[in-house]
Amino acid sequence: MTIERSTNNRWSSNFSFVLAATAAAVGLGNIWKFPYIMGENGGGAFVLLYLLFIFLIGVPVLMAEVLIGRRGRNSPGYAAAKLARESGVSSAWQVTGWMGLSAGYIILTFYAVIAGWALSYVFKSASGTFVGATTETVSATFGSMVSSAPELLLFTTLLIASTVFVVGKGFKNGLERAVTYLMPILLGLLVLIAIYAAHIGDFSTAFKFMFYPNFSALTAQGALIALGHAFFTLSLASGVMIIYGAYLPKGASIVRTSIWIALADTLVALLAGLAIFPIVFGFGLTPGEGPGLIFQTLPLAFANMPFTTLIATTFFVMLVLAAFTSSIAMIEASVAFAEERFRLKRWHAAITSGTLLWVLSLGTIFSLSGAGWAQLDWNFFGKELDSIFAAIDHLASNILLPLGGFMAAVFTGWVMKRRFTEEELNMSSKGYRVWQFCVRYLAPIAILVIFLQLLGIVNF
Ligand code: TRP
Repeated sequence: MTIERSTNNRWSSNFSFVLAATAAAVGLGNIWKFPYIMGENGGGAFVLLYLLFIFLIGVPVLMAEVLIGRRGRNSPGYAAAKLARESGVSSAWQVTGWMGLSAGYIILTFYAVIAGWALSYVFKSASGTFVGATTETVSATFGSMVSSAPELLLFTTLLIASTVFVVGKGFKNGLERAVTYLMPILLGLLVLIAIYAAHIGDFSTAFKFMFYPNFSALTAQGALIALGHAFFTLSLASGVMIIYGAYLPKGASIVRTSIWIALADTLVALLAGLAIFPIVFGFGLTPGEGPGLIFQTLPLAFANMPFTTLIATTFFVMLVLAAFTSSIAMIEASVAFAEERFRLKRWHAAITSGTLLWVLSLGTIFSLSGAGWAQLDWNFFGKELDSIFAAIDHLASNILLPLGGFMAAVFTGWVMKRRFTEEELNMSSKGYRVWQFCVRYLAPIAILVIFLQLLGIVNF
């Protein structure tokens, strides 16, 4: 039925695995979402809690997923099926993998559209749109982009086509090579912008805001947002870490690489905050702006700086790179699946997956542009879902991700034979016990709490 991911398909080194997994993890979540949710939830205390969740729950679940991938050596669904067989439990457990695969794919249908916004902003910045911009022109620019179907179509199509191109070229020549070049460029650009922001903006207020924990500003809802974001930002429960684990050589340490990935992802999120908040505070903007934070306030700040065009273009190029390397990772799992299931050649698999993705992305594009057929009037456990975009975002990010993380933790913590997980993790017995405690109790319970909260079943 399945083909093992062949032994030619292995990361060239542990470092290139860490780099690629970091590239998958670092995306719009770090640069677009983290700063604004931190801004809305009071800064320092939120950051502290987020760090706690990343290392106590994110890292153990990340290890669980890489372990499933490396031992299963297949795309997520088949990998989980194989491990269920190996441990002699019901084959229904393979749903752990299939759910991740679908969640990643569904996320990509709107992620590609938002990445398209960033791409569009590269062209806008480079053509000088933001020189002399005012609050009105910046929000008009944003509003007209978001509601223009042709513009969204153009940039989403460009983004999906480039993703297909890279992944179609194969694992080594396409994916691995692309992230090896793109990640260092991304990091370099981010550091440059952070230095520039510290120079031109209000660094000390920003630093205090991010690192001085004011617990009175933290609510239970904020704590739950921090936990959800820990999953989203590490790309957990999306099939990604399973498929990347499938390319990990036998001898590599899952523990050490997972910790590095989480550290690097966290570092980028904090750096993004340090690049954005000095500008926000220095130019009299407010940290609680919401999702429009970087698209609507930063161009305004850039407009008031020297070198507007250069700075704005650099910033949005960096955002595109971050989103692009995440998109590559998301599509990889589906391409690997199509290769295995339908025995397609890599190029055919990539083009098929990309075409389907493009069709599905129309749901988000026309939700934004206001087309009647894409608007909904749903109430899902008390949550208003007014468009296809709102519905798939909510379904994937708030339901499939927590559920998928829960299952990966339970599957490796309770269902797989201990001997197998021990063999893959290869840790000291004390270290193993800590990991086991996290995936058996800490992660499932925490996820259950956030899940019930998001469904509105309990309310804190
Ligand atoms: N981690 C990504 C980000 O921070 C978002 C994401 C969630 C993702 N699941 C994914 C990216 C799966 C790639 C694959 O933006």
